[in-house]
Amino acid sequence: MKTFKIAVIPGDGIGNEVTAEGVKVLDTFAAIKGNIQFEYTYFPWGCEYYLKTGNMMDVNGIEVLKGFDAILLGAVGDPSVADHVSLHGLLLKIRQEFNQYINLRPVKLLPGAPCPLKDKGPEDIDFVVIRENVEGEYSGVGGIRFENRPEEIAIQTAVFTRKNTEKVMDYAFKVAQKRNKFNKVTNVTKSNALNYSMVFWDKIFKEIAANYPEISTETNHVDAVSMYFLQRPESFDVLVASNLFGDIITDLGAALQGGLGFAASGNLNLEKEFPSMFEPVHGSAPDIKGKGMANPIAMVWTVKMMLDFLLEDEDTAAIIEAITQVLLEGKSLTPDLKGSAKTHEVGDAICEKLKGLL
Ligand code: NAI
Ligand code: MG
Repeated sequence: MKTFKIAVIPGDGIGNEVTAEGVKVLDTFAAIKGNIQFEYTYFPWGCEYYLKTGNMMDVNGIEVLKGFDAILLGAVGDPSVADHVSLHGLLLKIRQEFNQYINLRPVKLLPGAPCPLKDKGPEDIDFVVIRENVEGEYSGVGGIRFENRPEEIAIQTAVFTRKNTEKVMDYAFKVAQKRNKFNKVTNVTKSNALNYSMVFWDKIFKEIAANYPEISTETNHVDAVSMYFLQRPESFDVLVASNLFGDIITDLGAALQGGLGFAASGNLNLEKEFPSMFEPVHGSAPDIKGKGMANPIAMVWTVKMMLDFLLEDEDTAAIIEAITQVLLEGKSLTPDLKGSAKTHEVGDAICEKLKGLL
């Protein structure tokens, strides 16, 4: 029996509601397999914790988290705390301290999920975005001078290191190899306007591409990529993007795959020097919190990604199949999908389907 130690940070709002369903699916999967189990430790960190203690997480939280195999996070944020405080105090802190330099974002439209593009279907929307996750435009380097005076200035500097950029690019090519779809990587750039950072980015892309002669490449500016997502999503396989550009195009990707209720992500430290963190892309949704209306599918997809990072087991694909069956059946769907089921009923339905598949 292999035991995985999972740190669970449900966070705020619907983070709590969807995390319960993710854990339910993990336990169902483990029970069916019989040779793995999960040991959960819950951390009450988030905005409520901040209002009580002045910190978003325990002061030695990073130290404590080091001992886990993975971190499962719900969502963080509440109207009572400024968003830049909640984001920097927990999520960004974990991403940076644990050098989770890859943000992995599958964009896949499942049969039965709503797509905003009228002539596109599940066969057209199936790609992966690899987003650089610890530096670039979000490095936090900069400053403000002459605050609140007419001559006030704000400077925000993007930082790109060779070491990190190489690793991110290399991972994109490895993912393309593994997917074996079109064996293609699209470089998302803006080197016409950003004449230092993105010219450097393109140079590293070319260097790494040379190591993978069997993988074809294409380089597109980020604005064009945004347009192509809508016009020809079927042409994409793997994309690699900087922190800011990846952030923006993955929200567009979320829309293509049916909305935030479907968008899952992994923050990876590939060397496993530190735990990686898995989270749905959506926020804490204060507008629907506590009502049992949250769609847990993004979280269920997220735990599938966590399983794929922790173990090599093709059976994890059954989790996506179980979600698909629930979607196609249409009986257990939350209001965002025009259903009337509660969050926990969707989780239960997915677990039932999973039991029938494995
Ligand atoms: P949000 O993702 O929380 O909500 C946007 C809209 O989508 C809302 O109408 C919400 O009801 C809906 N929605 C989101 N997830 C849903 C789900 N699973 N099922 C059904 N409907 C869902 O984004 P918003 O409103 O901009 O931010 C709310 C708070 O969450 C803020 O404090 C923000 O900073 C934080 N946030 C945290 C993130 C994280 O923890 N990774 C990511 C994005 C926002
Ligand atoms: Mg975003």
